[in-house]
Amino acid sequence: MKKTLALLLAALMALSLAACSGGGSDSSEAPASGDPANSGSTADVANAEKPLVWFNRQPSNSTTGELNTEALNFNEDTYYVGFDANQGAQLQGEMVLDYIQTNIDTIDRNGDGVIGYVLAIGDIGHNDSVARTRGVRAALGTGVTVDGAINSDPIGTNTDGTSTIVQDGTLEINGTTYTVRELASQEMKNSSGATWNDSTAGNAIGTWAAAFGDQIDVVVSNNDGMGMAMFNAWSNQNDVPTFGYDANSDAVAAIADGYGGTISQHADVQAYLTLRVLRNALDGVDIDTGIGTADEAGNVLSDDVYRYDETSRSYYALNVAVTAENYQDFLDSTAVYAPVSNQLDEANNPVRSVWLNIYNAADNFLSGTYQPLLKKYDDLLNLDVEYVGGDGQTESNITNRLSNPDLYDAFAINMVKTDNAASYTTILSQ
Ligand code: BGC
Repeated sequence: MKKTLALLLAALMALSLAACSGGGSDSSEAPASGDPANSGSTADVANAEKPLVWFNRQPSNSTTGELNTEALNFNEDTYYVGFDANQGAQLQGEMVLDYIQTNIDTIDRNGDGVIGYVLAIGDIGHNDSVARTRGVRAALGTGVTVDGAINSDPIGTNTDGTSTIVQDGTLEINGTTYTVRELASQEMKNSSGATWNDSTAGNAIGTWAAAFGDQIDVVVSNNDGMGMAMFNAWSNQNDVPTFGYDANSDAVAAIADGYGGTISQHADVQAYLTLRVLRNALDGVDIDTGIGTADEAGNVLSDDVYRYDETSRSYYALNVAVTAENYQDFLDSTAVYAPVSNQLDEANNPVRSVWLNIYNAADNFLSGTYQPLLKKYDDLLNLDVEYVGGDGQTESNITNRLSNPDLYDAFAINMVKTDNAASYTTILSQ
């Protein structure tokens, strides 16, 4: 029903725009139609003034990590939704360290006193990826600080511990001193340029295993997509604990088979926030509605699952470690978060249309966990969302499909590259 209404609305808008196309400035004043269902339409609002949410990839400089404040303040209804990358990265590092400490009697496979690990890096220009690499190096003592921050560059290989990008860490456990060494790390980018690439990681572990054999005691990955590719290709058969990030359903299930652990970035909260900020902006209500303040349907988030940073207009979900101890509670990564699962009343929150893109339709986390959640929340929030999946490599593959922004009331954007916000805002400003 909602879809039909939206299609009708789109057709009517297209008609009214076509009818006015010769009318110059008048076209911006044309109402969409007299249909009462369209009473909340923003057909007469300039695209540059419509609500916009960036999600998962925060507008920022991919080299320095500096936030793009212009994009984050594109208009007064612009927000970012992601998760607390540093808090999550610290958790991931601690999870790996805890595992090593608890399993020290069995973990050093060749008994040489060196705990060797390999690391799959997602995207060297992505803040989340950089934070996770730093978090693991910080916890294991292998990080080298440059200009106040841990170097997050990939090392290639480092069999003998002479790399200058990382250093050997030292762990004192039960009176014995162990060395921790990052044996290898690599950005998992395929030849077409797709980052966080699972198959590249699956191949890399084969190469690393052939080169280092039983020097590899632990496998760490910036996400579960790559982590599971390595687990399935090698670590499962070789009983080598493998750690990822995202708490995708397949990774959580694999904990029963020896996958070491993962981090939930509370995708159930992020997907809700992504659409909720648009809903609130479209309704013209306080942005905290259904977030920190309960809405009429009773939806509300407690402050242990998210935080809002006013300066960067960013909502950050908080992370939780998922290990053998608690994985049973995380088996379905696409279940909505109960405190925000109440249906809004269509009379007060009429159906509105949203254009939303996923940077890479093949991204394990975004397509397998985030998008199914968005699809559940779009119903609950009365939003008719058009989902566009990119190829993960070129922004134009996505922007080409935003050819008529006039048809939508709001936009949710997941850039291919965090530097590329202008590719979208230029379209919306035309
Ligand atoms: C996720 C990755 C994903 C990336 C895409 C990260 O937050 O952990 O799995 O590939 O976002 O931007």
